[in-house]
Amino acid sequence: MGQAGASKPVGILISGRGSNMAALIEATKQPGYPAHITVVISNRADAEGLSLAQAHGIATLVIPSKGKDRAAFDAELDAALKRHGVEIVCLAGFMRLLTPGFVEGWHGRMINIHPSLLPAFKGTRVHERVIESGTRITGCSVHFVVPEMDEGPVILQAEVPVPDGVTPEQLADLVLAEEHKLYPQALKLLAEGKLRVDGNCVLIEYESEHY
Ligand code: GRF
Repeated sequence: MGQAGASKPVGILISGRGSNMAALIEATKQPGYPAHITVVISNRADAEGLSLAQAHGIATLVIPSKGKDRAAFDAELDAALKRHGVEIVCLAGFMRLLTPGFVEGWHGRMINIHPSLLPAFKGTRVHERVIESGTRITGCSVHFVVPEMDEGPVILQAEVPVPDGVTPEQLADLVLAEEHKLYPQALKLLAEGKLRVDGNCVLIEYESEHY
C-alpha cells in the first residue's frame, strides 16, 4: 500500500463505449485528485473506449473472454492488474461476470457504476423497466463489487426525475450525465480512504459533519 496522501493507481475494466472511463480519466487529470489510471483493460478487442484511453496516453490491454473458462480469464485479469500496480479497480460498463475468488481478492477495492437507484432495477434493460414501472425517480449508483451482480454496499447515488413520455434512450442519456459526475466523486472518496463498510452500509468520513 502507498503512503497516506499518495495518488492511488487505478485499473479500469470496460467492454464497450467507455464514457464513464472517459469521465474518470478527465477527473484524475485534475490537480490534487487522489488517483491516477495506470491501465484500461477490455475483454473485447472492439471496445470503443480503448482508442480513447490510448489517445490519453494510458496503457491498454485486451484480454479476450469469449469462449474462455471464467477462472482462467480472471487469473489473467488479476495478473495484468497486479503487473500494472493497480490498487483500485473500477468497472465501467464491463459486461462479464467475475468469479467469487477474483472478487474476494479485490474486496473493498473494486467498485462499479449501475444506471439505477439500487437495490431497484438490477440487471439489464434498466431504463425500459423503469419507464414500464411508472416510477417517477430513477438515477445511478456506485457500489462496492461483491460476487452477486449489482449487489454490494452502495457508496453514492444521484437521482434523476423520469420525464413524462421519455424514451429509454433519452432516459439513458439523462442518467449517463449524472453517472459521469458521480463516478469520479466515489472514486475520490475511496482513494482518499474515506469509506468504511459496515455490513451493507457505507459510512463516509467527510471533512466536517453534514447531516
Ligand atoms: C453505463 O450506463 C453504466 O452505468 C453501465 O453500463 C453503461 C456503460 O456505459 N454499467 P459506458 O461504457 O461507460 O459509456
